[in-house]
Amino acid sequence: MEIAIVILAAGKGTRMKSSRPKILHDLGGFPLYYHTFHTSRKLQPDRHLLVTGDDKKQILTSLDWFGCDPEIVVQEKQLGTGHAVKCALDHLGGFDGMVIVLYGDTPFVRKETLDRLVAKTTENNPISFLGFQTQNPGNYGRLILDDEETIARIVEVKDLKPGEKDITLCNSGIVCCKSGILRHLVAQLDTRNASGEYYLTDIAELARRENHGCSVTICDEEETIGINTQEDLAIAEGVFQQKKRREMLENGVSLQSPGTTFFSLDTIIHNDVVIEPNVFIGTGVTIGSGARIKAFTYLEGCIIGESSVIGPFARVREGTTIGQNCRIGNFVEIKKANIQTGTKASHLTYIGDAEIGENTNIGAGTIFCNYDGMHKHKTTIGNDSFIGSNTLLISPIEVGNNAMTAAGSVINKNVPDDALGISRTTQKNIEGFAKTRQDKKK
Ligand code: UD1
Ligand code: MG
Repeated sequence: MEIAIVILAAGKGTRMKSSRPKILHDLGGFPLYYHTFHTSRKLQPDRHLLVTGDDKKQILTSLDWFGCDPEIVVQEKQLGTGHAVKCALDHLGGFDGMVIVLYGDTPFVRKETLDRLVAKTTENNPISFLGFQTQNPGNYGRLILDDEETIARIVEVKDLKPGEKDITLCNSGIVCCKSGILRHLVAQLDTRNASGEYYLTDIAELARRENHGCSVTICDEEETIGINTQEDLAIAEGVFQQKKRREMLENGVSLQSPGTTFFSLDTIIHNDVVIEPNVFIGTGVTIGSGARIKAFTYLEGCIIGESSVIGPFARVREGTTIGQNCRIGNFVEIKKANIQTGTKASHLTYIGDAEIGENTNIGAGTIFCNYDGMHKHKTTIGNDSFIGSNTLLISPIEVGNNAMTAAGSVINKNVPDDALGISRTTQKNIEGFAKTRQDKKK
């Protein structure tokens, strides 16, 4: 049977108190919607829809950036989850199959759980809601059961009657339903409730009236965390980081202070990597086996080669590849550079837009002057070269193999292989000057 996945993301997200659409807020370095999209893509759906509101432009830009290409459905007015699904069904036209409704603000649901939900949606029970048990039901809708398996109705928090507040079985919002029945039920929704919205959740009661079975599929509470407020988002980030830390430890990565190491959704770290305390890893980072990331290092968009040592206090930025056995030390910033095996930049350096060969040493205080205020230019340095401390490399510039620059030089002409580039004013010593000055002071 064909599968259509509908991700609801048109809600205004007013409770976030932010000018940014809710689903564009970051979780593990990626927008909220990306998590749902990424997981649901694994089900290989025949149709993949995202329902958005009037924030369409910002969302389209983000989708493009993150390589997501769902069919976009615009829900002009946010009249409720039921109405959002109706818009999606109108867009799906004659589609005949299984429809899975997910939320853009519920990022942790697992693929295996969605598989179970689909398996539970059968001829006899053509609808299955994903539910969970919790000690803190808070603002979640409550599932009222007929028997252990069957849902009688779903009550939103604003519509709870006294006594129903204590119900601990909650609605994740995620539901799977045969398209024909869903169309039929959604057409009957109305707005007679405390919020005056079309509630998707009302299809449970409508189904029961028509003797369509509506089952519950149970999952872990953690998978259903829905984000409505900044506090929810902060809690979700904590949950995400916990999961990622556990995954890293299980894969043979040593974290000296797990609670102070931060990862992104796409972080790849091979085994035998040691990460010291207070390290932040942004998106697009891969770290090879045996590397050591020392304390207070910030990595993003880079590949760190096997057995390299980075930090403490290093910042490696987007577009950088560092080879094996390299050494990047304290207060070194690197951007868009390709650094090969065994090369070292141990202290206080800026490297930008560069190609550096093997076993080259970049001395303390070296600055790659890659920007002339208008354009970025490239610096190329060969193998086995030595850049003296406090060299300024005015790019575009090339330093050959086995070449040197003298400490304190401003290099604006290429330095050929085996040569020394030196450009500094000749030193003059004034005999006795210092002593005379000291004597005067006394
Ligand atoms: C919803 C459920 C509730 C469940 C909870 C789980 C309903 C009526 N309630 O409540 O039972 O416990 O999720 O997190 O379904 N959206 C649209 N268009 C709209 C309204 C919402 O696309 O007109 C989207 C939102 O962007 C969001 C999702 O639907 O991704 C859920 O909306 P939200 O307002 O957060 O619903 P909750 O109050 O959390
Ligand atoms: Mg919500």
